[in-house]
Amino acid sequence: METVHCQAASGAYDITVGKGSWQKISEFTGRKLLVRDGNVPNPGIEADGEIVLTPGEQYKTFSAVESICRAAAGLHLTRKDRFIALGGGVTGDLTGFAAAIYMRGVHFIQIPTTLLAMVDASVGGKTAADLPEGKNLIGAFHQPDAVLIDPGFLKTLSFTDLTCGLAEVVKTAVILDGELFEKLEQAGESTILAPDFDTLYPELVKRCCQLKAQVVEADEKELGLRAILNYGHTFGHAVEQKSNFSIPHGAAVAIGMNVAGTLAVTLGSWSADDARRQLELLKKLHLPVTVPVSFSSSELLEVMRSDKKNDASGIRLVLPEKIGKAQTVSGIPEQQMIEALEMCHD
Ligand code: GLY
Repeated sequence: METVHCQAASGAYDITVGKGSWQKISEFTGRKLLVRDGNVPNPGIEADGEIVLTPGEQYKTFSAVESICRAAAGLHLTRKDRFIALGGGVTGDLTGFAAAIYMRGVHFIQIPTTLLAMVDASVGGKTAADLPEGKNLIGAFHQPDAVLIDPGFLKTLSFTDLTCGLAEVVKTAVILDGELFEKLEQAGESTILAPDFDTLYPELVKRCCQLKAQVVEADEKELGLRAILNYGHTFGHAVEQKSNFSIPHGAAVAIGMNVAGTLAVTLGSWSADDARRQLELLKKLHLPVTVPVSFSSSELLEVMRSDKKNDASGIRLVLPEKIGKAQTVSGIPEQQMIEALEMCHD
């Protein structure tokens, strides 16, 4: 087992990466409500109650949060008890949000089962549900007590779920770690075609958790630095929403990174060579990189205008400066965003 510590301002916890790490759940006292993604069988977690969520981003609703809270109330859980999220990012976000508001806050533990949730969503205490007006528009910062990551769950993932998780690994590498990016380049297409779940994936997961924990420790509430974790997400959320979620989150983020990278090159803040390396890596990982031509740029911009990062100067974007470093930028003319979207049409 490997442990990464996250010392967030509102609470510290360990992220444990290793085979069977979910069994550490038995070390936590109090009663437990297991919130399980309907696609994920229970590996053997003993809980006092269980609620099964319908999988899919379209079910990331406030009514799902209410169902979790009502299941907890039905079991008479108290503030000393715990919710356990077993599943991907949607399950973790909904369970965390319910834990943030049930009795004004109870403990919760994340057991992520998708790569995307292991490398990003389960760490850092962002919890949320979607509104018809946009993704993650309601939520709370609420840190888990522990994140228990068993890379064995990765063996059960579909090709699409695995490649979508790799999009978040590429994101982390582009914004924070040039060496991680080179590791991915070296592993190349075999990362997805012949995945090494015993060595490479646990290493990728651990490194992403370390990097994310450092960012969360510096800026838990996203007052500054943490916004860089949204690289690719502003264009990506718009594409995801415009597709009615038929383009999954990680795939949309890959498209969003290509658009943001293209824009950064036209603005002169990123080199064409770095943009090419990013594009080639995304393609090697079998991720989509183009915006469907049927998605009107003005409609995508309309979605982007509701993004939580925006300020009075308009849409704020995360743009790379070099591989391993990114910054948040505002005041970019919308016409330039439209041109970048159109340069990335399929
Ligand atoms: N997924 C971005 C963040 O946790 O800040």
